[in-house]
Amino acid sequence: MPLAAVSPFSTRADLAALAGRSLPLRCRPVSGAEELLIHFQIREAIFVHEQGLFRVSDRDARDDASATVHVLGLKGPVAGGTVRLYPLEERGLWKGDRLAVLPEFRASGLGAELVRFAVRTAARHGGRTMIAHVQIPNVRFFQLLGWERVGEPVEYVGRPHQEMAIDLRPRRSRENG
Ligand SMILES: CC(C)(COP(=O)(O)OP(=O)(O)OC[C@H]1O[C@@H](n2cnc3c(N)ncnc32)[C@H](O)[C@@H]1OP(=O)(O)O)[C@@H](O)C(=O)NCCC(=O)NCCS
Repeated sequence: MPLAAVSPFSTRADLAALAGRSLPLRCRPVSGAEELLIHFQIREAIFVHEQGLFRVSDRDARDDASATVHVLGLKGPVAGGTVRLYPLEERGLWKGDRLAVLPEFRASGLGAELVRFAVRTAARHGGRTMIAHVQIPNVRFFQLLGWERVGEPVEYVGRPHQEMAIDLRPRRSRENG
């Protein structure tokens, strides 16, 4: 049983100081209802309050599906970011979304760790390909992590997004088709 994640909202006053310390980064699925709530609160802080992408809540039916994996990104004991992943109907196809790092935790590698963790997790579940609808300013970030553009930008939750994909199969099985 992992040590319970500390909520960034319970330590708001010294969050910047805490986030600035060089503590180890780690990602893992939420464990229990309290950590799921922290995951939702971080998403709400970013997608509702910072970006205004959703008016009230960014939660949807995917959050209730048993196959969905809700991930927390931790710096030391404190949760600073999220990502969510789930299988789509097409066999082997996974989707990642709700990648969010609180401003105090940005630029310390947590976002990249979350994306890599999502990719590893989907691959471990037998996924062949993972897709994401990425906000245009973040396309380069995903490219740096090995993702490729798919087609032209599309409207997604009211803003232009670029579909991107990454092959989840080990290199050897990819080369053998
Ligand atoms: C996008 C986001 C997740 C990045 O998280 P982060 O923790 O700041 O990113 P990292 O520190 O892991 O960055 C890893 C590397 O990517 C680079 N990078 C980060 N964001 C980038 C961007 N938008 N474009 C290009 N490069 C970027 C960093 O400079 C860093 O490079 P380095 O390894 O040379 O230092 C974060 O800014 C965020 O949550 N933004 C608001 C919500 C959002 O946009 N979500 C994504 C929706 S698609």
